[in-house]
Amino acid sequence: MTGRAKITIVGAGSVGATCAHWTAAKELGDIVLVDIVEGLPQGKALDLREASPIEGFDCEIVGTNRYEETADSDVIIITSGLARKPGMSRDDLIARNTEIVGSVARQAAKFSPKAVMIVVSNPLDAMVYVAWKASGFPTHRVVGQAGILDTARFRTFIAMELGCSVEDISTLLLGGHGDDMVPLPSCTAVGGIPVTSLISKDRLDAIVDRARKGGGEIVALLKTGSAYYAPAAASVQMAEAIIRDKKRVLPCAAYCGKEYGIGGYFVGVPCILGKGGVEKVLEVPLSSQEKAAFQVSIEHVKELVAVVQKIGA
Ligand code: LAC
Repeated sequence: MTGRAKITIVGAGSVGATCAHWTAAKELGDIVLVDIVEGLPQGKALDLREASPIEGFDCEIVGTNRYEETADSDVIIITSGLARKPGMSRDDLIARNTEIVGSVARQAAKFSPKAVMIVVSNPLDAMVYVAWKASGFPTHRVVGQAGILDTARFRTFIAMELGCSVEDISTLLLGGHGDDMVPLPSCTAVGGIPVTSLISKDRLDAIVDRARKGGGEIVALLKTGSAYYAPAAASVQMAEAIIRDKKRVLPCAAYCGKEYGIGGYFVGVPCILGKGGVEKVLEVPLSSQEKAAFQVSIEHVKELVAVVQKIGA
């Protein structure tokens, strides 16, 4: 990468526009916001750019309906697709979003063949698979955002419980981005102190449950769509790790072949994220109970991938 990095954000809805906002605030590089709706990406990009003299960030922000303008991006964040409404699960979006994500991933990959692609659309783990197939990219350059969001929710609730800083809570979560995701109290520490010694089992179980259902809690409150501040912040943290080659250890939906015995699916696991995309998947020792819960989540991801394969992804 020479000069400024270039970040394409596909989808100018709430998640995409908020990704553009955080990306600009962090001065990660020049931004191209793409959407099929005429005027929407152009309007949001110009509005955001006009905030730059006030907030003091220097980057180009362009809105467009054409993929030509996304050419040679370093990172592509795909946020396109429908969001769920109250009463819907992420899985209810699968048919329509397979079509949308496949189409945008194909077009974006054509103009930026060397990019790392971050997928945010739901149902997440299946949509990463769809984007991988459509892009033709190697597995390490396609990765899904979910674990950072899910652990951020878990960290938030732990901090609320203990009245301490969210920054001092480190944790881990495995599995798909569904209500059967697997937060790991055994890998959770507060300023280095095991969380299990600070919060009782009953309270911790309730917090785990709230984190697992955190997406649905927001949908039920908003009524018209799903969360976007935290999903966007999580996506931009991944983009930052890649662009600045930070080699962060972050939970992401990464391709697992032999790892955890998964056998060729994208699921949430801790990985090292740097310039090359997913540079390594890290394996954590799990108790038999954690293994069993992880297996349930993996089976769910496999079912969703079978559905998108049937659709023809
Ligand atoms: C959530 C949705 C965006 O977890 O998947 O909020």
